[in-house]
Amino acid sequence: MLLKILLPLMTATVLITADYVRPPPRKTLHFPLDHKSSSHPQQVHISLAGNKHIRVSWITSDSSSPSLVEYGTSPGKYNFKGHGDATSYSYLLYSSGSIHHTVIGPLEHNTVYYYRCGGQGPEQSFKTPPTEFPITFAVAGDLGQTGWTKSTLDHIKLCEYDVHLLPGDLSYADYIQSGWDTFGELVQPLASARPWMVTQGNHEKENIPFFKDGFESYNARWKMPYEESGSTSNLYYSFEVAGAHVVMLGSYTDYDENSDQYNWLKADLSTLDRKKTPWLLALFHVPWYNSNTAHQGEGDKMMEAMEPLLHAAGVDIIFAGHVHAYERTKRVYNGKSDPCGVVHVTIGDGGNKEGLAHKYKDPSPEWSVFREASFGHGELKIVNSTHAFWSWHRNDDDEPVRSDEVWITSLISSGCDPKDNKEAREVLWSP
Ligand SMILES: *[C@@H]1O[C@H](CO)[C@@H](O)[C@H](O)[C@H]1NC(C)=O
Ligand SMILES: [Fe+2]
Repeated sequence: MLLKILLPLMTATVLITADYVRPPPRKTLHFPLDHKSSSHPQQVHISLAGNKHIRVSWITSDSSSPSLVEYGTSPGKYNFKGHGDATSYSYLLYSSGSIHHTVIGPLEHNTVYYYRCGGQGPEQSFKTPPTEFPITFAVAGDLGQTGWTKSTLDHIKLCEYDVHLLPGDLSYADYIQSGWDTFGELVQPLASARPWMVTQGNHEKENIPFFKDGFESYNARWKMPYEESGSTSNLYYSFEVAGAHVVMLGSYTDYDENSDQYNWLKADLSTLDRKKTPWLLALFHVPWYNSNTAHQGEGDKMMEAMEPLLHAAGVDIIFAGHVHAYERTKRVYNGKSDPCGVVHVTIGDGGNKEGLAHKYKDPSPEWSVFREASFGHGELKIVNSTHAFWSWHRNDDDEPVRSDEVWITSLISSGCDPKDNKEAREVLWSP
């Protein structure tokens, strides 16, 4: 108990590797996919889809259900309708249901909407995010579908948040496609109520050489607003919400200077209006600054290609996953602390079946502030254009315990506006 009180007080100044007895991995949850009828909407989740719009995604076993969403601001009263389309895919012996994606709007901000999918119940509801600060993001990667995943999700549910950010590794279906369906069901209570913005990890690849390209299931089920952000691939995109510009990148698609992803990123970052979006966040799966012994060096190539660009644009915080543990750095650039650098957070501790990554490099690098191998989730509350409060909540014997916390000030309010930096101007705005 004393530790729980002392930890937050100590973290501001000292490096902590908390003295906490870590629990073992928990088993994958088993629950039957028991649906009332073939047209029953399953696995409902929502995502942001451009200004004032939300994409509603769900699956039906049959292919004749309409991709219709009826919605309104009072329960049971649907004054509005949206129509979308459905897709499906086959994977070895598996055939997916009909995967519906329907964009609805324009919607009011900070408003609860009641809706139903496919012209029949049950009713769901979601809250749209605000258009101004404050806004709160819940962050958890490498979720999977174990008892620990459930514990993480239960804790996220207790927090007042607007948008969920997921830096890759969702279902851990690992080629067994029904695992995507059970994951969809597991996350539905949360993902149907708040937008879930995801990017992909290695567990989304599921490629089979000469036979299957990667990301087939992920792209079909977790369609993100890439078209809305000028990208040509669901594997990288950006979105804006309440004064934050968020870039979602792909660690497993080309990122070198001649790649489509790099060119899209450069174009995306060079057109930002930092008066409108004073906060700039980025997410991808494989961390660049990580002092756990797991996955050392895997992010180096991407970092070499893209770090100058993200730094030039003045990215405030980067969230990554992959390493099943939590770590937060000082502001860093080019391998060392830098007052105009990026705060890197590794948060691959959602609770998947592979368990935790316990071993850390010793001594700890000078840039590492806090590192701990426990399951949990993070919350980023952007209070205004200059201040954000980050906290990390460990699943401590099934209770969420705030273990790390820090106030972060935005780069543009800290004398690090890229527009004032010659080097940054050359990287971003040179032809
Ligand atoms: C932003 O919020 C912080 C923390 O609450 C506060 O100290 C600061 O004065 C606020 N800044 C502005 C510009 O409102
Ligand atoms: Fe991973």
